[in-house]
Amino acid sequence: MTTNPTLERIGVTPSPLALLLLGQGTDADSERGVDCPGALPAAADPELAGRAAAAKAALGDKVFILGHHYQRDDVIAFADVTGDSFKLAQQAAARPQAEHIVFCGVHFMAESADILTTATQHVVLPDLAAGCSMADMASAEQVEQAWDDLLEAGVAEGTVPVTYMNSSAAIKAFTGRHDGTVCTSSNAQQALNWAFGPERRGERVLFLPDQHLGRNTAIGELGMTEADCVVYDPRRRNGGLTVDQLRDAKMILWKGHCSVHGRFSRECVDEVRGRVPGVTVLVHPECKREVVTAADLVGSTEYIIKVVDAAPAGSAFAIGTELNLVQRLANRHPDKNIVFLDRTVCFCSTMNRIDMPHLVWALESLVRGEPVNRITVAPDVAHYARKALDQMLALP
Ligand code: 13P
Ligand code: SF4
Repeated sequence: MTTNPTLERIGVTPSPLALLLLGQGTDADSERGVDCPGALPAAADPELAGRAAAAKAALGDKVFILGHHYQRDDVIAFADVTGDSFKLAQQAAARPQAEHIVFCGVHFMAESADILTTATQHVVLPDLAAGCSMADMASAEQVEQAWDDLLEAGVAEGTVPVTYMNSSAAIKAFTGRHDGTVCTSSNAQQALNWAFGPERRGERVLFLPDQHLGRNTAIGELGMTEADCVVYDPRRRNGGLTVDQLRDAKMILWKGHCSVHGRFSRECVDEVRGRVPGVTVLVHPECKREVVTAADLVGSTEYIIKVVDAAPAGSAFAIGTELNLVQRLANRHPDKNIVFLDRTVCFCSTMNRIDMPHLVWALESLVRGEPVNRITVAPDVAHYARKALDQMLALP
């Protein structure tokens, strides 16, 4: 076992468990859950939890740990603040005194935190493989091509880009350059009202990259119809749309979706209503329209938590969102019947990349003064992305 002077100084005995670099070797102990011989492993390795606690204590006020609601229980236990993507963006912006922001979430969230924090603050994503398949469904080149299509169709001028937080910094910069806004699932309605309202007077919105959040908000909250929405497919010429379709649309929805929420179906809702008497079906707006219309309530992760927390004992909920959050709510409310909307297990694999070995690695690297996995956004991209993020933070 190698000695670590920093850990020795703060009185921590390093674990014999080696923290592996990604792609370099395997460790049967840390990669538990691959081989399942019978006995279930402990939910949180006490040794890793001890190392994370010691490193966090050694860093004190220098570090601020943000945790998205979809993170694993053992990781979220170390978060100074937990929240949905909107709350976490606000919190990152409100901590200028923290030298290091460790983001337990996914890449686009860490990028946004870097944009919203000062130049002297460092944002760390414990595992760089924690991306988002939805964000990857819109590349900067594809979005520029779409804008060219709108220019050619003569409709770009009246079009306001609104991008979901779940997008790369480059897409946010595109949005800022064209005087649009970022939104999250907790303020998408306000973002669309702003885009169509007196301040911006848009004739239509180009909504990136989640077609479901765009459609659910436009129809469910703003009273639009299916006929007001078209889907722009970046793999097809002109998005697969005619000039008339582009011109007549109020919502041009990017053909993107969340692979986790995309699993829930109308059948899941019907099935759970038959199985759980008196159940309230509560879903995230990244779900398909057919799921949202069949559900009782729809809202962001923060909203879902508030509804469940406020419900009286004996209430029953079927929740359509990421499984870590649903399990946590079920554990926190043993007096309520909380079930997952799908019968099939459905974690967000990229959110789950942030695990205890990576968190310990990131924190101990900060203790050593050798930060790893720093997320930095190029200044020209950050400038316009910040404009779109600030517009979101200023929404009523
Ligand atoms: P919210 O945290 O904004 O509800 O979004 C959920 C999500 O998919 C984050 O990736
Ligand atoms: Fe992306 Fe969906 Fe995972 Fe959220 S839950 S990070 S949208 S893949």
